[in-house]
Amino acid sequence: MSNQKPIYVTQPQLPALQDFTQLLGQIWDSKVLTNGGPFHQQLEGALCDYLGVKHLALFTNATIALVTALQALRVTGEVITTPYSFVATAHSLLWNGIKPVFVDIDPDTLNLDPAKIEAAITPQTTAIMPVHCYGNPCNVAEIQRIADIYGLKVIYDAAHAFAVNIDSGSILNHGDLSVLSFHATKVFNTFEGGAIICPDAKMKQRIDHLKNFGFVDETTVVAPGINGKMNEMQAAFGLLQLRDIDAAIDARQAIDARYRTALNGVPGVQCVSNTAASRTNYSYFPILIDSKYPETRDNLYFRLRQHDIYARRYFYPLITDFPMYRGLASASPSNLPVAKKIAEQVICLPIYPNLTEADQSRIIAVIRGG
Ligand SMILES: Cc1ncc(COP(=O)(O)O)c(C=O)c1O
Repeated sequence: MSNQKPIYVTQPQLPALQDFTQLLGQIWDSKVLTNGGPFHQQLEGALCDYLGVKHLALFTNATIALVTALQALRVTGEVITTPYSFVATAHSLLWNGIKPVFVDIDPDTLNLDPAKIEAAITPQTTAIMPVHCYGNPCNVAEIQRIADIYGLKVIYDAAHAFAVNIDSGSILNHGDLSVLSFHATKVFNTFEGGAIICPDAKMKQRIDHLKNFGFVDETTVVAPGINGKMNEMQAAFGLLQLRDIDAAIDARQAIDARYRTALNGVPGVQCVSNTAASRTNYSYFPILIDSKYPETRDNLYFRLRQHDIYARRYFYPLITDFPMYRGLASASPSNLPVAKKIAEQVICLPIYPNLTEADQSRIIAVIRGG
């Protein structure tokens, strides 16, 4: 083991503590801790402006937001989704009693391959749940074309896609609903948190009811809603985070560029590129290790750990390898050859605004020294 300080795959960007305690002071004065208080309302408005979206409902985390998004659209039966994601994507389906149907990914975008969706549609299919993996935009036009032909809803797991734009504007304006995560590991965080983005006020109202137990007013409950509300402390923190977000993304961009230059031409190391976005957030830095590299992906992963560098194999294992999914016919490895291969090759390297050049050089040296 080395005795250098550990480098983790990410580290949250935090506002100045005194700025946060000042906002906490306001919460202490008002005694409004949750239930759609002033900070919650302010953050919803500020995020709509920043992201370029019409309506946004804040949540306690993205997993509850995904579960609620499916409820809001009354999705049932079967939903087509990707095996190459964090387990919460598929778990949100099981929490609604919905059967996930896994479809393989595209080798370039690492997102659900639109060309393989139609073959997976059955009379029970009601929706598609793609993921903008690493913030790389899905082929939204093609997915919408298929959804329109078959009358399917589209819910994007946009947990990684904060502030990602394509030529037409925010990627979050596509599909019926999109869900963001504000978990501590994300580009924009509120300790824990998330949001549903929706195109119209009526749907936003339904989502607001669902995240508050189904309450419409003091005495009326219209649905078996959940408690998904973001609290005032998280929302106040989010307002401070938003102030610094552009600088945080710029710092990530510089780190991303340095990795690409330093790893260019290293045999067996391919940096995943994000070509479809007109603006991206540099939330992850995935590389793919192939047979031209002198050792296996796992050897490199463990060698990095010996140097106290904690890169992560996102996403390995595939969701379809976990016991609650692996018995499904669509989870069979023969149905998912691209996802299987990528899951064996991927490593996400550390990237966060405060990653120093010296620390980044340490990471690059270990990889080049392979
Ligand atoms: C693709 C994806 N979906 C959903 C989630 C769940 O988000 P949360 O932790 O906010 O519940 C995450 C990560 O945490 C994720 O990476």
